[in-house]
Amino acid sequence: MYRYDDRDRAIINDRVAQFRGQTERYLAGELSEEQFLPLRLQNGLYIQRLAPMLRIAVPYGLLNSAQLRRLARVSRDYDKGYAHFTTRQNLQYNWPQLEDVPAILDELAEVEMHAVQTSGNCIRNTTSDPYAGIALDEIADPRPYCELIRQWSTFHPEFAFLPRKFKIAVSGSEQDRAAIRVHDIGVQIVKRGEEIGFQVLVGGGQGRTPVIAETIRDFLPEEDLLSYLEAIVRVYNQLGRRDNKYKARIKILVKALGPQEFGRRVEEEWQHIKDGAEKLTQEALDWAKSFFTAPEYREFDGSAAEAALQLQADSDKAFARWLERNTYPHRVPGYRAIKLSTKPTGVPPGDVTDAQLEAIADLADTFSFGEARVTHDQNVVLADVEQDKLFELWQQARKHGFATPNIGTLTDMICCPGGDYCSLANAKSIPVAEAIQRRFDDMDYLYDLGDLNLNISGCMNACGHHHVGHIGILGVDKKGEEFYQIQLGGSASNEASLAKVLGPSFSRAEVPDVISKILDLYVEQRQTEEPFIDTYNRIGLQPFKERVYAKAS
Ligand code: HEM
Ligand code: SF4
Repeated sequence: MYRYDDRDRAIINDRVAQFRGQTERYLAGELSEEQFLPLRLQNGLYIQRLAPMLRIAVPYGLLNSAQLRRLARVSRDYDKGYAHFTTRQNLQYNWPQLEDVPAILDELAEVEMHAVQTSGNCIRNTTSDPYAGIALDEIADPRPYCELIRQWSTFHPEFAFLPRKFKIAVSGSEQDRAAIRVHDIGVQIVKRGEEIGFQVLVGGGQGRTPVIAETIRDFLPEEDLLSYLEAIVRVYNQLGRRDNKYKARIKILVKALGPQEFGRRVEEEWQHIKDGAEKLTQEALDWAKSFFTAPEYREFDGSAAEAALQLQADSDKAFARWLERNTYPHRVPGYRAIKLSTKPTGVPPGDVTDAQLEAIADLADTFSFGEARVTHDQNVVLADVEQDKLFELWQQARKHGFATPNIGTLTDMICCPGGDYCSLANAKSIPVAEAIQRRFDDMDYLYDLGDLNLNISGCMNACGHHHVGHIGILGVDKKGEEFYQIQLGGSASNEASLAKVLGPSFSRAEVPDVISKILDLYVEQRQTEEPFIDTYNRIGLQPFKERVYAKAS
């Protein structure tokens, strides 16, 4: 992983000192609310319903065990003993005291972490694939490029006040696990012969107006990554709407101009800068790549390791289930990646306690070279686990509540904080997640349903990705009462699609029954082994609509 040098350290320490001064002046009444707002936002601090909310950047989701332990300590000393993993691989604290935030940032700086540009109208944390560097379908490791983007974008003098927030994701694999099609810029690593380059997508995003990104470049040479991104953000910075917050995202500009015209303008801008200072030298590329080399893997006889594992799985059904759902193939024989589930019934998806953060650190140290990764679906990956240690790891993960074997199933849902914390919410989302988890707690049924994404947002800002869930649930407000709209058919993967609204909304109590009817129809209609999303794509919305809104006879 990338480690700070002295210059990085000095920059972050200066920034903490600066923010301490700003916070003190605000608390002393020397800065108004309005003056403090952009300062706090650029340091990840929102003022929320019940308390401030602090968002910490986790570049490409990668954390080492020292950072995990420090995050645990901060949650214990300054929060209520837990933290929340988000879909963009960040971490949020929901209960810090405003006056403690500089001290929190100080603590984080000591382990090379910060909250710079995690909110506000700037380029945010770059997200990526949690299986980067180990996936079988990887074309090239995306993390060095994410790191270069991070260094280019953080403190970029031209892009500190964009029309609106700006989010970039990079995928290095054939299968998109970073939702690049719903980001302002999606970067897909591709190969032309032996040459590495990028397919560049722009104008995706969620929020009130969800849009799937369009490709404006099929192949961008490796060395041109930053200059081309710079050209895109420049065009957006000049032409993006600043008069209307709801029309300010790049997706609106790309729609208004059309992707072709937008792409033409980017190419035009790029001609001026393509051979300038942002052009990546081989030295710069090698330097970035040097931080993401493979750890010292042991040598295994792959098939013997596989056979031994099979034997363990055969003798323990619970372990076999976990192995099947919560582990992931690894490029190196004898290794697997494992996913710790943050979604047992009754826990808000993505929430982890201080003790659990410490447990993740211990598991990472014992089993995975001291590193862990936050995932797009709010879980945690340990990427490099020796197969013959999986049984032991599973037993330990179980003790800490991380081994629910539900990865990729209905109950492994993405859920925003909703009305329990968020001042923008129209409805609560966490209790809806819990009600669904309680209703569908039969693992055999969940396995029979197969891969299924259910995503919940408490308002149309779409933090919970409801538009791109196979089943999406959106909290709406009807004359002061909380209701829920159901959407079907979304996907954030390679074949990204936006969900369609089923029809009139439901009360919270009705939601599990509605989901049940949708699932029943799927089970009746599916062809052998057909996943939910494929059945939906084949039969469309109408049959689901008829089933759910059918009058009882
Ligand atoms: C409670 C604190 C939060 C607040 C105040 C907040 C606020 C917002 C707002 C205002 C938007 C709409 C932006 C736009 O359309 O331009 C948004 C979008 C989004 N938020 Fe949040 N959010 C919060 C927590 C979260 C959490 C916990 C997650 C992840 C689980 C998250 C993930 C996202 C994502 C993925 C989007 C869509 C981004 C896009 O349009 O490209 N947010 N959020
Ligand atoms: S979707 Fe709405 S309710 Fe949920 S976190 Fe985002 S802004 Fe808050």
